[in-house]
Amino acid sequence: MSKRIVSGVRPTGRLHLGNYVGTLKNWVKLQNEEEYECFFFVADWHSLTTGFEHAEQVGCNLFNVFYDLMAIGLDPERSALFLQSAISGHSELFLIYSMITPMGWLERNPTVKEMVRDYDIKEHINYGLIGYPVLQAADITLYKGEYVPIGKDQLPHLELTREIVRRFNHLYGSIFPEPKELLTDFPVLKALDGRRMSKTLGNAIPVVASEQEIWSAVKSAVTDPSRVYRNDPGHPDICNVYHYFEVFFKNEARSMDLQESCIKGAIGCMDCKKKLSALLNGMLLPFYERKQLLMQEPEKVKEMIETCNTKADRIARKTIQEIKEKFGFKVECHESKEN
Ligand code: TRP
Ligand code: SF4
Repeated sequence: MSKRIVSGVRPTGRLHLGNYVGTLKNWVKLQNEEEYECFFFVADWHSLTTGFEHAEQVGCNLFNVFYDLMAIGLDPERSALFLQSAISGHSELFLIYSMITPMGWLERNPTVKEMVRDYDIKEHINYGLIGYPVLQAADITLYKGEYVPIGKDQLPHLELTREIVRRFNHLYGSIFPEPKELLTDFPVLKALDGRRMSKTLGNAIPVVASEQEIWSAVKSAVTDPSRVYRNDPGHPDICNVYHYFEVFFKNEARSMDLQESCIKGAIGCMDCKKKLSALLNGMLLPFYERKQLLMQEPEKVKEMIETCNTKADRIARKTIQEIKEKFGFKVECHESKEN
């Protein structure tokens, strides 16, 4: 029997290179391995936890996220590629889990604490944000997911999923497997300004991007600040552009003697950036081209997603039904005892 994989991505703007190397590339790889059956979804409900004031922005972005996901190689005919909010089971199971999840488990979650810091929302943390990992537990277990390909930052959430699963199984009988993470060994990719890559910080490199967009991201990279003139000796070890060469284009850097040339002041930062930009463009171009093709057939894309929604919904309904049966939640004609 194939092993079931479940994972989601929040539709915060366009997918960026950090998302790709950290998680999405792994999704594509897993999708193409025979032993797995994959359920990948766009977590639009999750986006409301921090973006509730701009719900319509989340909405108008959704289709684009599907284009991006398909452009990088996810295939709705191999993986179920669907929309979280289209399957009512996610929110139902979220509600059920919220009944059995002690507040203490949620309050200590470091990833939620980080979100509170990043989004600067300390003064008004909503109930929904505290419940973020509970919804995530529902996402995974609704399909009885066994493996969850995620970035390291998501580990606290997955640990909570396992705690909820153990508690549920203990209380009502074992129906859920305890999901395990599938991590990649790729280190977290920093942005070209040296900070964490994020759409909010405005430093993200879109993974499906035109040549001009890639250049405009690379152009503003922070290099060695001590280099003022073109011939000044550089320090590649502290340069973000050099870091990208190391991560993605080691061989190219070696064959152009980049490290030496930089230290000797023989190459200018502008030329160096142009080279990086061209290499990135070469790497990402197939995605860009595929998206152009997909965009010519929006109806077909929509249909494929809807088919996946239906497939996911069928499984989700079964799970919810199974739970309701465990609970005995159904109306039956009993004779009233009071008479
Ligand atoms: N929290 C995840 C992120 O920000 C997205 C997500 C939502 C998810 N539900 C999930 C990931 C279920 C794995 C499984 O990246
Ligand atoms: Fe960085 Fe390249 Fe400039 Fe050296 S030449 S500091 S590696 S951008």
